[in-house]
Amino acid sequence: MPGTPNDEEALRARAEELLAAMTPAEKAGQLTQYFFFSLPEGAEADPALGLDPAAQPREVQAALERGEVGSLLFVTDPARINELQRRAVEGSRQGVPLLFGFDVVHGLRTILPVPIAMAASWDPEVIARGQSVAAREARAVGIHWTFAPMVDIARDPRWGRMIEGAGEDPFLGAAVAAAQVRGFQGDVLGAAEHVIAGPKHFAGYGYAVGGRDYDEVNLADAELWNTVLPPFKAAIEAGAGTVMTAYMDLNGIPATANAWLFTEVLRSVWGFEGFVVSDANAVRNLTTHGFAPDLTSAGARALAAGTDMEMAITDPAFAHLPEALDGGRVETAALDAAVRRVLRAKLRLGLLDDPYVDEARAREVLADPQHREIARIAAERAAVLLKNDDDLLPLDRGALESLAVIGPLAASKRDTLGPWVFDFDLGETVPVLDGIRRHVGDAVRVEYAQGVPVVQRTFPSMFDMFGGNRPEDPEGFDPGTAFDEAVRIAREADVAVVVLGEWQNMIGEAASRSSLHLPGRQLELLQAVVATGTPTVALVMNGRPLDLRWAAEHVPAILDIWYPGTQGGAAVANLLFGEVAPAGRLPFSWPRTVGQVPMFYSHTRSHEPENQQRRYWDEASTPLFPFGHGLGYGRFTYGGLTVDRSSVPLDGTVTVAVEVTNTGDREGDEVVQLYLHQRSGTASRPVRELKGFRRVPIAAGATERVEFEVGPDARRYWNAAARDWVLDPSPFDVWVGGDSTAELGTSFDVIA
Ligand code: GLC
Repeated sequence: MPGTPNDEEALRARAEELLAAMTPAEKAGQLTQYFFFSLPEGAEADPALGLDPAAQPREVQAALERGEVGSLLFVTDPARINELQRRAVEGSRQGVPLLFGFDVVHGLRTILPVPIAMAASWDPEVIARGQSVAAREARAVGIHWTFAPMVDIARDPRWGRMIEGAGEDPFLGAAVAAAQVRGFQGDVLGAAEHVIAGPKHFAGYGYAVGGRDYDEVNLADAELWNTVLPPFKAAIEAGAGTVMTAYMDLNGIPATANAWLFTEVLRSVWGFEGFVVSDANAVRNLTTHGFAPDLTSAGARALAAGTDMEMAITDPAFAHLPEALDGGRVETAALDAAVRRVLRAKLRLGLLDDPYVDEARAREVLADPQHREIARIAAERAAVLLKNDDDLLPLDRGALESLAVIGPLAASKRDTLGPWVFDFDLGETVPVLDGIRRHVGDAVRVEYAQGVPVVQRTFPSMFDMFGGNRPEDPEGFDPGTAFDEAVRIAREADVAVVVLGEWQNMIGEAASRSSLHLPGRQLELLQAVVATGTPTVALVMNGRPLDLRWAAEHVPAILDIWYPGTQGGAAVANLLFGEVAPAGRLPFSWPRTVGQVPMFYSHTRSHEPENQQRRYWDEASTPLFPFGHGLGYGRFTYGGLTVDRSSVPLDGTVTVAVEVTNTGDREGDEVVQLYLHQRSGTASRPVRELKGFRRVPIAAGATERVEFEVGPDARRYWNAAARDWVLDPSPFDVWVGGDSTAELGTSFDVIA
């Protein structure tokens, strides 16, 4: 089995053999990954990409023949993968197989809920299971490596890539990152039906100034070590095989050539042995940053800083590495070390002995119905019930005669999948409207009205060029009559279900916004529906918090369904009619308005904690919904909170126990959360920080006892004064509850 100790020796020996026979140009080629675009005929490539859809493949084919390509990305067809692999293996001098990478971020053919949704499940087991489906489908078509999980902490929802991560909190982020790596890679790197996991973007990318994607990031060391880096560390401790660089400058140094990140933190502090790949064109763009004067310098400095492989669209900087070697700007040892890491990954995957993919089996795996089942369960467990006045939900199908489903997103298959999907199957995709219709059958009359036109961005999304991503109104759509029609069906229905949010091309990469309003006339539509007096349920399709102040005031039930994936509509129907109860929790603090961002719960006390609620004179300074918030269809009470000892030494551990009772009349999950606060020490510490959580199924009327170990790892933090990790003696507060405002508390002392 690859990766076992004795195999390690054989693996190293083989890598040395291959390396010794390589020319400098072939070595540089192993470190070069090209996009291989097979865009739909006549696709218009975004000029900003600097891409000529016809010329680029020719450049790659030529490089393949020279044996100067190590990896390709953006190929998902198994036959095409085999054809390209054959060119590399049989058509080049060395015949080293290619590594095929791709953004299998939340599924390949079976699309899972978007990553922020999976984080909202607070269920590492379902996250790992979902990503193992994604890995199985990817490996079946011949993809060996995914550029995921994205583990960037994000606290500014103007930044569209919040959707790809796990929100604002390092503890939740670390748990989600590790679960995703386990799902993608299985128990050992190179395992069958699994792929290499590649956490990204190292590091700090989510703190782009103004929420403007790609813009610079300036972060204090304490914020890096205590907030931004822990999810990456967890991913690496879970065995991730690669790390991807980030586009932006971190404290003035482009992340892609940042030796502190890749040589100091990643390799010497954390002992990472995998390889580092740049983000797209990020090595050649060191010249654009005004950091490197030319491509030779860009390649040499990126390699020296610790970036092993260059992801390139065209004209890679690493093609100049032989010149840099001749000019003494690159050490042979550094070049060889990078090539070794890449070769070891290929050997671990068994590519040297078995480089091709079984095309017939690929079709079988992609058709596995079990995958759709897992995607549906993930969507059910991701949903967050934000509000449910008078228990309007779950709907009683038996008591309903008619239902109005309203809003363009309700019927849109493409939007139900969310961004970062390419190889999906729309035929299999279940939008909300279809999910509801299939669920109720003829028992309930379901009417649909789009109500408002789709909304276009002020400039197209970079992904629109892949076709089918731009939302369009149906032929003959008339905004005037559509709005009236929506109000009419709402008035006549027993219940109105309005689906609101952003179109999927409005969020993700290069999708920052200056506001959080519901795009277009969606709020107006919601207000008109509520004004009919028909009980209204709002379903939110989103990847970041949106401005729901009016809805939170006037709509009795609000369920965040995110972009729920291929089986989204089926999951939503099960949730609406109570087949399953929602139990998701927010992975971020939900601001009332964009003026509050960045907003996060784990802030420090300041000298006026009592006025924390009144920092703005024109708006409350609390979130609309707090981090960790989410309701269920049951009621849960907490009691019996204890610590097993009142004081411990600096390296001591206390056991915190709590009893959670389901006082409702149905089984349900409760996400039990533990928050910790250090009262004093050698730095001001956050008012509270998540240091434990458990999603626990509890039968109606039952009580579950939940225990947490709170040891030194939960209390240790990087201290800006000591410029090192410290453990302070102090009294510590502990709260346990169902969200970050938990009030049931106790305390213990840590004694020096
Ligand atoms: C993109 C993204 C990165 C992705 C890569 C390949 O620009 O920043 O997350 O993995 O390019 O698609």
